[in-house]
Amino acid sequence: YGVMDCFALTLLCRLCGTTSFNNKIVGGEDAPAGSWPWQASVHQFGGHVCGGSLINKEWVIVRYRGRRQNQEGSNPNEVSRTVAQIVLHPVYDSDTNDNDIALLRLTSPVNFTNYIRPVCLAASDSFYHNGTDSWVTGWGKINEGKFLPSPQALQEVEVPVLGNRQCNCLNRVGSVTDNMLCAGVLTGGKDSCQGDSGGPMVAKQNSVWIQSGVVSWGFGCARPNLPGVYTRVSRYQPWIDSKITTDKPGFVQFTSSGVDTDSSYTCPGLPPPATNVPTKQQLKPTTTKAPDIAVILTAEGEFFILGSASTS
Ligand SMILES: *[C@@H]1O[C@H](CO)[C@@H](O)[C@H](O)[C@H]1NC(C)=O
Ligand SMILES: *[C@@H]1O[C@H](CO)[C@@H](O)[C@H](O)[C@H]1NC(C)=O
Repeated sequence: YGVMDCFALTLLCRLCGTTSFNNKIVGGEDAPAGSWPWQASVHQFGGHVCGGSLINKEWVIVRYRGRRQNQEGSNPNEVSRTVAQIVLHPVYDSDTNDNDIALLRLTSPVNFTNYIRPVCLAASDSFYHNGTDSWVTGWGKINEGKFLPSPQALQEVEVPVLGNRQCNCLNRVGSVTDNMLCAGVLTGGKDSCQGDSGGPMVAKQNSVWIQSGVVSWGFGCARPNLPGVYTRVSRYQPWIDSKITTDKPGFVQFTSSGVDTDSSYTCPGLPPPATNVPTKQQLKPTTTKAPDIAVILTAEGEFFILGSASTS
C-alpha cells in the first residue's frame, strides 16, 4: 500500500478503494478477511444497529437511521474509538427515505492497514447503467426473519444495478427518487436485508472500489421483482465536501459504457425520461452533538462502533 501502488492507480494519488485481499469470483458468501476493509458496524447498547463505510481516517458514512439487532463476538485485533460528532442530512424525509445519509466523525483518526482502509466515493458526475456489477456487504439478516448464523462472518453479495425507471415501476412509481439507486436480481434470491442498512454498495472501476450506494430500503428482502434501494452516493459530493473540510475523502467518477437500456423503460404512470436537470437540494446547517459511542476497529477488515447512547 505504498507509493508504487499509488502511482499505479492513478496520476492523482488516491489512497482509497484498494484492497490487499480481494479476488472476487462468486457472491453471497462469507467475505474473506480484508476483502472489504472499509466495512463498518455501528453499535448501540451493545447491539449492531447498522452498517457503515470508512471514507477517510476519521469519517464513516451511514444511513440516516438504523435499527437494533444483536451481533455476537468480536475480533482479536481491535482498536477503540469514540464518535465525536454525528452529521445527519438536513433534509432527510422519513416518509420516503429521501436523503437517507449521515456522517460519523471519530474522535481520533485510525491508521490504515491491509484490513482497515477507506473506500472511494462516487463523484457527482458518476452514472450507473442498468446491469452495472456491484457488491453489497453486511452483517444483516440472510433472509426475511432469518438472522445471520454464528459466527456471523461479514457477508457479501453480488448484485447488478437496476435502472431507476424500471425500479420505480417495480417498487411503485414515484417511490424511487433521483437521490436513490437500485440493485437486485429480478428473479430474487440476492439482496441486502435488515441489519445491512447503512452499509456500502460498491462497484469496481480500474482496480479501485467506489461506493455507489448506502443500503437504505426495500420491500422485504430478495423478493422477485423487488430490487433493493440505496442512497445514491454521487448526489452527496457537495454535502460531504461541505462537512469534511480536511483530509477529503477520495471522490472518483464512475461511468458506464454504451447506452443505458433503462432510459427507454416505461410503465403506466411513469413520466417520460427527463433531460438531465439537476435538482438543487436545500441545505440547512444542522449538526447534532456527539453521543457517547465507542468505536472498535478490527484487523479483520471489519470496523466496529460500540456504544451506549442516543442518536443513530
Ligand atoms: C498510528 O501511526 C502513528 C505513526 O506510525 C503512530 O505514532 C500512532 O501511535 C498510530 N496510532 C494508532 C492508534 O495505532
Ligand atoms: C436491467 O438488467 C436486468 C439484468 O440485470 C435485466 O433483467 C433487465 O431486463 C434490464 N432492464 C432493462 C430496462 O434493460
